This record gives sequence, structure tokens and C-alpha cells, in this order.
Amino acid sequence: MSFAWDTVVGPLIDILKPTTIVEVGAEHGVGSRRLLEFCRKYDGKMHVIDPLSPDQDGARHQAEIFATLLRENPGRLTFHRARSLPLLDEIGPYDAIFIDGDHNWYTVIEELRAVERMALKHGVVPLIAVDDVGWPHGRRDAYFAPETIPAEHRHPSGRGGAIPGSSALVEGGPFGGLIQAEHEGGPRNGVRTAVEDFLRETSLDLACRMIPLRAGSAILLPRDDSPASAPVRHWLDAWSIGETQMSVLWDLSAELLALINTVGPMSSELVALRQRVAEAESGRGAANQR
Ligand SMILES: C[S@@+](CC[C@H](N)C(=O)[O-])C[C@H]1O[C@@H](n2cnc3c(N)ncnc32)[C@H](O)[C@@H]1O
Repeated sequence: MSFAWDTVVGPLIDILKPTTIVEVGAEHGVGSRRLLEFCRKYDGKMHVIDPLSPDQDGARHQAEIFATLLRENPGRLTFHRARSLPLLDEIGPYDAIFIDGDHNWYTVIEELRAVERMALKHGVVPLIAVDDVGWPHGRRDAYFAPETIPAEHRHPSGRGGAIPGSSALVEGGPFGGLIQAEHEGGPRNGVRTAVEDFLRETSLDLACRMIPLRAGSAILLPRDDSPASAPVRHWLDAWSIGETQMSVLWDLSAELLALINTVGPMSSELVALRQRVAEAESGRGAANQR
């Protein structure tokens, strides 16, 4: 997925005005373009980390997108064709990081631990944004490259789809085709579980807001009572949501995502079918005229 830029991230960036931003997981550069706009606005720099698609055509397409972005942003953008781990330990200091790479407990908690090491080394606690803390990967690991995850941290996985309320994967369900944990929930499973476990262990004093929009994002910020950070506290207050409302919103966003990911592929199939019917009809019409 991607972050809710206009409603959530943009206002926060306008308050914090970060000067070095890291993006983990960029795919086709949708988020990278948004983040680069902020970098230009606040004269900042940006690191993008993505190993790119293992499929050759996908990788070529992504490489072209980033070649253009690099040309358009000389001296501002650094692209690392790599996995976040262990590369994150070589980058810093930065004052904002957007994590949207491999959506599993092990990768996310290790990325957050790397952010903590950076914060302690440089004395900068960044804005940390983690995407996909809602359904389907909040409580269910997905693995882009299972072989890169230590075996003891890998759940049994399959390529079935996910349906809200069903722990088991379902043949033909939405989000099918990804490699994901066969069962939802339980310890050390999913992105939100990684964020919660990190918050329990970290020595950093962080405030956290879970935003139940799209696939859900977690925003972690240094707690700060100084008058200068009143706008940040105002932002945090604006996103304080009661437990009951929160669980209703999580359910709604899961239903919506499942629906979008069911209807989307069906409408593509419908378009292809209509095209085949139109081609067959025009072929028949031409034959009748002969
Ligand atoms: C959901 S997409 C990111 C979407 C993007 N943030 C946006 O705004 O459109 C996930 C991306 O993470 C990348 N990825 C997978 N494993 C990764 C890892 N270990 N480190 C960094 N990126 C990773 C994939 O290649 C893919 O491009």
C-alpha cells in the first residue's frame, strides 16, 4: 500500500520539516514522488531503499522510474538498490523514515531496531512511519523473499488469498499470489505486532498513533513537552482515537480493502472479456460483408 499523504503525513511533515528522509520500499515511486516534493519544499535530501522486483520486466520498469527521478533531483536523491537490512545501519543521521518494504514481523522489528541504533548514535529521534499495520498484514506476515528471513522467524506460508475474519488463507481470495503466513495472529506475526513489540522493548521515549486508513499506518514520534513541540502534540491529539472507534475503523478498512482487491481484478477481467467480444463481433461483421 502507501501512506495517506494528504490527510496524515503531509500535515506532519509540514510541522516537522525534516531535512533527511529515508524511504524503505518504493515500488513504482508513488510515495517517493510525494516525499521528494517535501524535500524540495524544505531543501532536504532523500534516500530510497528497494531491492526492486525479482521479475525482470518489473525491475526494468522500476529502474526507469528511478533513473528519471534521479535525473530530476540531482544531489537530492540517493537510490540504494538493496534490502533495508543491513543497509539501514550505514545510513544516518536522518529525521524521518517511512517503512513500507517487506511486510513481516522479523524485517519490521529489525528495521525499527536499526532506527533506534541510528537515533542513539546521532542523538536524533526521527519521525518513524510504518505502513501496513492494518489488515491484511498487521497480524499476518508476508514475505517478498522468504529465503532472506531466518528460518526460526518464518511462519509456514502459502499463496492463498486473505479474507477478513478468516485466519486460514482462502483459495481465490483477495491478496492471493503473495507469499504470506498460513495463519493470522499469534506471536511474532505481522507488521503491527512488530511495532507493538518494538514499543515494549525500545529505550526511546516514543508516542505512537495507529491510523486506520487504507492498509493502516503507525506513526511514532519522540515525546516532547517543550512549548516548541505544541504543534506535534496537537497533531497527536487529533489522531487519538478511542478503542471502540478504533476497532470499528480497523474492521471497516479491512472490509473496504478486501472489496477493492476483489472488485479490481474482476473489473480488469471484465474489460478484457468485453474487448474479446468486441474483436469477435467485428471479425464476424467483416466476414459477413465479404
Ligand atoms: C508496498 S511496496 C511499496 C509502495 C511504496 N511505498 C509506495 O508508496 O507506492 C513494497 C516495496 O518494498 C520492496 N521491498 C521488499 N523487501 C524489501 C526490503 N527488505 N527492503 C526494502 N524494500 C523492500 C519491494 O520491492 C516493493 O517495491
